[in-house]
This record gives sequence, structure tokens and C-alpha cells, in this order.
Amino acid sequence: MTDGVADIIDGKAFAASIRARVGEHVARLKAEHGLTPGLAVVLVGDNPASEVYVRNKGKQTAEAGMASFEHRLPADTSQETLLALVAELNADPAVHGILVQLPLPAHIEEGAVLGAILPEKDVDGFHPVNVGRLATGQTALVPCTPLGCLMMLRDRHGALSGLDAVVVGRSNIVGKPMAQLLLRDSATVTVVHSRTREIEAICRRADILVAAVGRPQMIGADWVKPGATVIDVGINRVDAPEKGPGKTRLVGDVDFAAVSRVAGAITPVPGGVGPMTIACLLANTLTAACRAEGLPEPEGLAA
Ligand code: GUN
Repeated sequence: MTDGVADIIDGKAFAASIRARVGEHVARLKAEHGLTPGLAVVLVGDNPASEVYVRNKGKQTAEAGMASFEHRLPADTSQETLLALVAELNADPAVHGILVQLPLPAHIEEGAVLGAILPEKDVDGFHPVNVGRLATGQTALVPCTPLGCLMMLRDRHGALSGLDAVVVGRSNIVGKPMAQLLLRDSATVTVVHSRTREIEAICRRADILVAAVGRPQMIGADWVKPGATVIDVGINRVDAPEKGPGKTRLVGDVDFAAVSRVAGAITPVPGGVGPMTIACLLANTLTAACRAEGLPEPEGLAA
């Protein structure tokens, strides 16, 4: 940090370096063991944001040298049909990772589908067995977005032991697993949420502040301790009349302009946490493939 201007953590470059390491490891697996890691992505319905994610996942999986299997099902697909596909993918030895894109249509019970994925192929880390393994310090597959945040924090701080970390938001996808990962690295962890009292004062104590609430620019400069590392997981689309009528732009949960004058380091939106998520999905798929075949795992790509 120099004179009240935070270092910008370049998630795009960091993610590219992870993808390159994954690609190198995949090339070695193919050459030395004839093994091609495979990722299956299942999309039910036509949610536009999910379409974009799924397309990007497919493209980056192929670029890393892995096999990409895409399954697109209509919005009125029955839960039974979806569970039958999951069972097929569980049994397919070419598939090392399975991701069912969320949100699912309202008539499908999310827990039933996520719970049907084999924990060893659950590259999202959402299966209760993986959630429990993470919480109890056992070998697990862990959710991609918090894994990406952890990698950026370790890169910035080295050891996180003893640091005060505050996670804003308690979702199953980000907030809760982020807290578990930070705890496993011996940070002192507080999770705050919509019912928390004195939320600003608690955030202001944080050496590490992770924002994952989905409220545009909620976290202002007053919430941040000078020199803190701020990780912004939020991706919110807001009106941008300055760009022209009807235009929008992406902002995080953090007021970037204000907070970057106080923080020591901060992730931008876009270009911060976002690109790390798919890179970590590829890393998880590689990890799952190595474990399935009893081969050594790549260093530094798992939690
Ligand atoms: N939808 C938004 N983020 C995610 C994610 O990380 N995994 C899955 N499966 N669906 C999502």
C-alpha cells in the first residue's frame, strides 16, 4: 500500500496462472498415465447468467486439456430424470467431476440433487459429506469461490494464523465454507449477517474482510480497518445512466472507490474473485481425478 491507495489484487492474472498450472499437470497425467480428467456440467433450463457460466466452464475445461461433458436439459425436466442423469455420471469412469448448475427450477429439490452426487466427484463441494469433511479437517473437495478467495489471501499474507477475519454473509456456497477455510488456516473468524448488531464496528476490526452478501456497494470506507485486505465476492448488476439510457454495469458488495483509499489490498469487480471460481473448478476436477486414480495431487491447488 502507498499513501492510502490499496494494492489491486489481479484475479484475472492469478486465475490464468492457476489454469496454466492445471494445464501442465493435465498434460503430464495424459503423457505418463494416459489419464484425461473429465468434468460434467449439467444445466437445467435457460437462466441467462447460468448459460454464460456454463459456456465459460466448457471453454476453459477444454483449454486446460480436460474432457468437457455438457448436459443441457429443458426447464420442465423432472427431478427423477435429473437424478437418473446424476446416477449415470456417478457411474461413468471418464467423469471425475460433476457440477449441477444452480439455481435449479423451483419444482426440483436442490438438496436431493446435490446429495445424489458422489462426494468424490462433487467438485462444487456442496455435498453434506464434503461440508462435514471440511468442518472436521478431513480431506475434502471444497467450494470453488471460497477456495479462490483463500488462495488470494494466502498469496497476500503467507500464513493467516492469528489474523482477524470477518466474513460478511452466511450462504452455503460462500460465507460458511469461507469461514471454515479461514478457521482451518488458524485465522480468528467472525461471520456477520443481516441480523448482526454493530456490524460496521465488527468489520472494522478485521485484518481480512470477505464480503459475500449480494448487496451492491454496501461496505463503505467506515467499515474497513486501514491496511486491511478486502475480498469482494459480490457480483451485482446496477443501472449505469452515465453509460447511456438503459445501460448497466457490474459492482461488488464493496464501495471500491471509497474502500480502496483505506484498505491495504482489494479485489476489483469485475476481475477479482470472479475469474478465480472457474480456475478453482478446474483445480478441483484435477484433484478429484488424481484421488480417483490414486495418483499424487498437484501441490498448492487444493485447500
Ligand atoms: N451458480 C452460481 N454459482 C455456482 C457454483 O459455484 N456452483 C454451481 N453449481 N452453481 C452455481
